[in-house]
Amino acid sequence: MISSLRGMNDILSEEYERFTYFLSLATKVAQRYGFHFIETPILEETALFKRSVGESSDIVGKEMYQFIDKGENDVCLRPEGTAGVVRAFIQKKLDRAGGIHRFFYHGPMFRYERPQKGRLRQFHQFGVESFGVESVHEDVSMIMMVSDILKELGIGYRLKLNSLGCKECMPPYRQNLIDFVTIHEEHICEDCRRRVGTNPIRVLDCKEQKCQNIYADAPKLINNLCTGCGSEFSKLQTLLAQSGISYEIDTHLVRGLDYYSKTAFEFVSDNIGSQSAIAGGGRYDRLVEFLDGRPTPAVGFAMGIERLMELIVMPQNGRDGYYMGAMDENTVDLVVRMAHQKRGSDKVVLDYKPKNLKNHLKAADKVNTRFCCVIGENELQNGTIWVKDLEHKTEKTLSHEEFYALAGEPL
Ligand code: HAM
Repeated sequence: MISSLRGMNDILSEEYERFTYFLSLATKVAQRYGFHFIETPILEETALFKRSVGESSDIVGKEMYQFIDKGENDVCLRPEGTAGVVRAFIQKKLDRAGGIHRFFYHGPMFRYERPQKGRLRQFHQFGVESFGVESVHEDVSMIMMVSDILKELGIGYRLKLNSLGCKECMPPYRQNLIDFVTIHEEHICEDCRRRVGTNPIRVLDCKEQKCQNIYADAPKLINNLCTGCGSEFSKLQTLLAQSGISYEIDTHLVRGLDYYSKTAFEFVSDNIGSQSAIAGGGRYDRLVEFLDGRPTPAVGFAMGIERLMELIVMPQNGRDGYYMGAMDENTVDLVVRMAHQKRGSDKVVLDYKPKNLKNHLKAADKVNTRFCCVIGENELQNGTIWVKDLEHKTEKTLSHEEFYALAGEPL
């Protein structure tokens, strides 16, 4: 038997219901904030991710599904959504148009990580990207949007916040950190030693406890921010406090993608195990320029749908729609024709297999429809249909016209 690839799941039945329930709720919230849908290709040039997410990041360095296509192009399955949206933003010349552009998207992302609970190789994100707003108010709006979505889903969270500074304050801090780490070089792990030369800031989110013990005393960027970044970070905190959104400062929150500056945030859940980040994002004011667009401030986030699925409890749905079935082989064709007409206005679940009334009622109950509608020999002769309202426990024989006109009212 051929199975799906490791870390790549099918989504169906009840899980798919939760999946689409999340997507429609998140879409509604994003639209309330004035965001518009964007779809970008799953396959992009590898160079796009090298230049945005960064060659020294684990995502690009170790986890890309990268290959040469039949036209000799170096391409890869997107590991995240931001880079593609920025590429589209520049390609459609929206950077030149100026103004504010706000997008949301969802779809599969691919990272060749070691699969475990909450960590897949094909997973789905819901994300938003906002272009053209420099003010930290937009950062707060992003955080509010995640908070609104989680609140409407009834999901509790902790919000972690950090500032990654800008091109003024990050370079001197990076040097301070390199100096600090170099002093402790003998006691840190192999990965951290390598990171000092490639991407020193990433040492701060090393998972090794012995490294974390050392970095507890490392210099902190938030104590070394330039005046501009410092006052923006304070303002961000004030605005969050005013909106009643609690947060904790995590000076080791550096995010795994290189394009961030200033605000970085992550929403974590304490109820899903070690892969606890359910959403992450931040500001990336220099990325449009890095990808050859006009300098444009930008900020966004993405939520991991599979991780949220663990936490989503669907509201109990009431019975909905019509179940239709035949009691004899020679009434099946009529039932199919009537179902087609009824589907012009209503949801109809059709059962082609003739069976007795008791079994039809059981089947209707299983698919949770409001009405169970059955045609047998008698109904065929009389031009009628037998209907039971499974919610109100009433039943009636209706003419075809009465049946088509039925719009969910009690019988
Ligand atoms: P990210 O933190 O890499 O950010 O991913 C966002 C979310 O995707 C994570 O918080 C997590 O819930 C989910 N996720 C990541 N990797 C996996 C995995 N292997 N399996 C299951 N879920 C996963 C980004 O991707 C940025 N593009 C977010 C962003 C948008 N920043 C600005 N705009």
